Amino acid sequence: RHRVLSGMQPSADSLHLGNYLGALVNWVQVQDDFDAYYFIPDLHAITVPQDPAAMIQRTRVAAAQFIAGGIDPERSTLFVQSQVPEHTQLAWVLTCMTGMGEAQRMTQFKDKAAKQGADSAGVGLLAYPMLMAADILLYQPHGVPVGDDQRQHVELTRDLAQRFNSKYGETFVVPTGFYPENGARIYDLQDPTAKMSKSAVSPNGLINILDEPKKTAKRIKSAVTDDGTEVRFDRETKPGVSNLLSIFAAVTGRSIPELEEAYVGKMYGHLKVDLAEAVVERLEPIRTRALELLDDPAELDRLLAHGAVKAREVAAPVLSEVYRKVGFLPPV
Ligand code: TYM
Repeated sequence: RHRVLSGMQPSADSLHLGNYLGALVNWVQVQDDFDAYYFIPDLHAITVPQDPAAMIQRTRVAAAQFIAGGIDPERSTLFVQSQVPEHTQLAWVLTCMTGMGEAQRMTQFKDKAAKQGADSAGVGLLAYPMLMAADILLYQPHGVPVGDDQRQHVELTRDLAQRFNSKYGETFVVPTGFYPENGARIYDLQDPTAKMSKSAVSPNGLINILDEPKKTAKRIKSAVTDDGTEVRFDRETKPGVSNLLSIFAAVTGRSIPELEEAYVGKMYGHLKVDLAEAVVERLEPIRTRALELLDDPAELDRLLAHGAVKAREVAAPVLSEVYRKVGFLPPV
């Protein structure tokens, strides 16, 4: 069976709707057909400052949400990045094969470094995509289910795989990004030209899986829309309504043309009320289940430890092969 692999950072108290529709839904779907590896990149999270107590809690919260959202830890391998040291080890080798300009061109690096200020931004932000490439290549996956914002990182990963293969001989599978049809990019409800992100300017732009349903409904109902009255998908002139339509399509499985048809002659308000209901209906069971799972953190830790052992069984031989090819002495 082909493999897939993906990761989601533990950098907030809850996953948001973009994480859910852009990635988690796809993760759940592909676990039937692939040997799936899903992990929590805590090493990536520390590329920006993190509070240690919040970090450990957020790691468990992320795991609980994956399981509550449909990842079956018996079928898929669920683990935490820092518990599999091979990730960091391969990352170094790949870092040494990456050009400075290549790394500096990554838009996520540019955005995050700009936010931190040029001089105070950590070198970890620059090294971030090579760690991500290591995450992926260690498992030889065929596919990487991610949202659209990770496209550039997946492309760099493919370049590095090919570069390594041509320098040292066939080693890595060159992976393909799996991007969802609807939901690959969910935008901020208050600023529908910016992607939904935990670092949103206004918290009202964000839908969190673990928020109270009432809060979720309220945020959707107060989403920014556009001039005009027609419920129609047009990213250029109607970014707000278009975002609501993509969320609606992703949450219900109905197509955008079908939804446009259903709202002919109706107002934005109708769309929002129905969407709020659909989103709450979809997220509520996940929220409830995640909160239940969090009542037993020891059990979550046990599941994750088991996942890390399984992950290392795949990652360790790949790293050994890389070390040997690069010209390091055999392990002691
Ligand atoms: P992260 O943690 O920022 O996001 C996790 C996943 O959610 C998707 N996503 C979105 N999709 C649609 N609309 C949005 N507004 C939105 N915001 C986030 C992301 O595309 C992602 O799929 N670098 C990665 C984590 C990572 C990783 C990996 C992923 C580390 N190593 C190896 C895949 C494979 C990141 O920061 O995602």
